[in-house]
Amino acid sequence: MSLDDKAVKPHDRLAQALAADMEAVNALIRDRMASEHAPRIPEVTAHLIEAGGKRLRPMLTLAAARLCGYGGPYHVHLAATVEFIHTATLLHDDVVDESRQRRGRPTANLLWDNKSSVLVGDYLFARSFQLMTEADNMRVLNILANASAVIAEGEVLQLTAAQDLGTTEGVYLQVIRGKTAALFSAATEVGGVLAGAPEDQVRALFDYGDALGIAFQMVDDLLDYGGTAEVIGKNTGDDFRERKLTLPVIKAVALADTEERAFWTRVIEKGDQRDGDLNHALDLMRKHGTLEATRTESVAWADRARAALAPLPDHPLRGMLDDLADYVVARVR
Ligand code: IPE
Ligand code: IPE
Ligand code: MG
Ligand code: MG
Repeated sequence: MSLDDKAVKPHDRLAQALAADMEAVNALIRDRMASEHAPRIPEVTAHLIEAGGKRLRPMLTLAAARLCGYGGPYHVHLAATVEFIHTATLLHDDVVDESRQRRGRPTANLLWDNKSSVLVGDYLFARSFQLMTEADNMRVLNILANASAVIAEGEVLQLTAAQDLGTTEGVYLQVIRGKTAALFSAATEVGGVLAGAPEDQVRALFDYGDALGIAFQMVDDLLDYGGTAEVIGKNTGDDFRERKLTLPVIKAVALADTEERAFWTRVIEKGDQRDGDLNHALDLMRKHGTLEATRTESVAWADRARAALAPLPDHPLRGMLDDLADYVVARVR
């Protein structure tokens, strides 16, 4: 790799390598997000989709398909499908989390209302199902339908685990594997399936997406405490306010003395949060090194993602997927 290549982020290099395909994906997204019958729909979808977003998941689908030698047109449909599912879950997630900022803009629930976000989210889900049928591949349908169910399960499990100081790291892993990694692994797996790749390669793509998604969500959870709104395009401290048991908190609760435990019980279980509590929580996490420990775990998952790529064909895109795993955790490295 030359120095010049290195200067460009892996995410941008993937975008460059897949530029023609991504253009087709974006055109398809624009085309299918509209509705002639309910003007609120294009208002909301345009607000979210024009704000951009990293388009990570559709790039994963395109890269997986190309890497496995696919030459047909339907990877574009599946990539758009995956981004629609993602966007639908974001609309719903921001209602559930009562979030006020997304992609550097006010959320749809803030600009319009919860009702619009829920219903337009449903519309995007439905559109995603129309799109995925166009590839005319039952196994692909099965993977994406299954992922949609698993994402919803992950969000519901998180809902019931919130405010519960007894939440274990095992439950946390189950939550993030569901709500986030399921779409990453489906995105990569369908690319391989569409290309008719051998089973060991399809499995490798699934494993890569699964581990990458887990690393990605761990970093997101870390940035919710340690990042800045400018960098992440959404407010920090959301998870604390929502009383979510993310990994840095679970680890801090496990190491708490009596006084610290009383603090966590008050702010997380009872929801009695006062000025300065978020900073105190951060102090406790620093004291016990739990942000650092979370970072180390995210790096281990990124390494697992890279290791999973071994059975895949030797191809420049494989190198970019390898670098992408590094990049996902580089935000906190
Ligand atoms: C946000 O995902 C939701 C999480 C899984 C943390 P992204 O960070 O990929 O969102 P966009 O699409 O780039 O805004
Ligand atoms: C995102 O989880 C998971 C889904 C969108 C299903 P978060 O709630 O942590 O994501 P952000 O932080 O709002 O993007
Ligand atoms: Mg959220
Ligand atoms: Mg978050």
